[in-house]
Amino acid sequence: MIRDYHEFMKKVMIPADQLQARIKELGAEISRDYDGQPLLLVCILRGGVMFLTDLIRQITTPVSIEFMAVSSYGRGVRESTGHVRITFDLSTDISDCNVLIVEDIIDSGLTLASVIELLKARHPKKLEVCALLDKAERREVAVPIRYRGFVIPNEFVFGYGLDIDEYYRNLPFIGAVDLDKYQAGQ
Ligand code: PRP
Repeated sequence: MIRDYHEFMKKVMIPADQLQARIKELGAEISRDYDGQPLLLVCILRGGVMFLTDLIRQITTPVSIEFMAVSSYGRGVRESTGHVRITFDLSTDISDCNVLIVEDIIDSGLTLASVIELLKARHPKKLEVCALLDKAERREVAVPIRYRGFVIPNEFVFGYGLDIDEYYRNLPFIGAVDLDKYQAGQ
């Protein structure tokens, strides 16, 4: 049974209005920087979807979207390895495009580092990263985050695209999980 998140949520880490206000700022910054030049947002599925759909509405430069899914293998389900394989690829050629990768969260940085390497090999004109959440203290590999929503502490978070065992992505805020409570109810 899928439980009510109130049973295991420690606190709301970022309320919906703060998310939206920050996304508005990011959209304005991106629009200023690209200044009318076409921009291709590449959303990394699935967590980045909510962020993408709100962000795109705050960008005024001509923008198109593409989706990519990768899966990492090895280690546990909640940790990535840096070895990713593409499970769903872009449908267009990105050579000579201004590409902005849209991610929900950067943790170790291993997934993003791999995605950057994969996309660089396709020769985009420009390749930058926009991440909503940066769990900076968990970083294992340096990654260039050009646009960052929030730096967050090392807590297990969910909501606004981020899942717990695939559920709760639909919540409009970012919550922190009390893992003991979550696991106790399993
Ligand atoms: C999350 C997130 C990043 C990655 C970050 O995806 O969207 O892609 O993990 O972790 P890292 O910095 O340690 O590599 P996840 O694998 O949970 O997939 P999902 O977006 O489909 O939930």
